Amino acid sequence: MQAALEARDYSQFRVVPRTPVIGGWIEGCHLSELNERGMADLRDALWTYGALFARKQNLSFDQMKQVALGFGDRLEKHTFAPTMADEGHPEVMVVRKLKTDHAKATTDLWHHDVTARKHPNIMSVLQASEVPFGADTMWASMTSAFDRLPDALKVLFSSIEMEHDSLYLAMRHDFGDEAMIEKIAANREHAVHPAVVGHHATGKPCLFVGNAYIQRIKGYEAEVSEALIKIANDMSKVPELQVRHQWEPGDVAMWDNIGTTHYGVSGDVTSGSRLLHRVAAWSESMKPTAWAGQTATPLKAAA
Ligand SMILES: [Fe+2]
Repeated sequence: MQAALEARDYSQFRVVPRTPVIGGWIEGCHLSELNERGMADLRDALWTYGALFARKQNLSFDQMKQVALGFGDRLEKHTFAPTMADEGHPEVMVVRKLKTDHAKATTDLWHHDVTARKHPNIMSVLQASEVPFGADTMWASMTSAFDRLPDALKVLFSSIEMEHDSLYLAMRHDFGDEAMIEKIAANREHAVHPAVVGHHATGKPCLFVGNAYIQRIKGYEAEVSEALIKIANDMSKVPELQVRHQWEPGDVAMWDNIGTTHYGVSGDVTSGSRLLHRVAAWSESMKPTAWAGQTATPLKAAA
């Protein structure tokens, strides 16, 4: 059992936990003004709290990129979601659903982002411009999810690998129209990752399983594979492992894309449009690797 999160004063901001296991409010800073020391603290805070939230940020796209580049040396360019490429920002993904738009929601799944890639995102920066009533976002701690598993399942999941596939995601969850499916098929991504990943910064085991890209357990028969995947997926649904954010325009949320899953609640889609922007960082030097039962590497204390 991990110790409950506590409030902490860093050099340029303070973090106040939102639940005992996941989520923290960042207070006392504008994210664009953090210097090198502040960014090191922000990394420490993200790996500690899993998801961080800051009000009244209103970051520019360049400022969002600057924050993300504090975590990884590459910025994601999404292969099928809309982006701000036409305005010179292909690294800025758009979550847009107009009030009058009857397209199916595609965010209401518990998932890690873009896991069908060999190098999934390390973290994301998501900022809200417009959000319908009740269209909250939820996160779940997958380090705590692993912690909560019975020992026999910890051993089992630590021994298996999952096949992740972007076309499977689209077909299974009925994403978009035929043109969208063709776009996803043309840029199809497929990767195999361990079901339990040793976190790149903390060394802690993370259950790296979500209900989006995962097609099957490598080498397992379908029935057994599906039953075990459901057990792992359902861990994201445990309320004690979750934090829920009610958005205000200008809010920024950041999350650890290895140690947490997230879920975009649809809310009252008739009450307004949904418009958020996301920038995510990854690195070729950070590929999810199997947890080997190592003890956690202590994080450097921020003096
Ligand atoms: Fe997502």
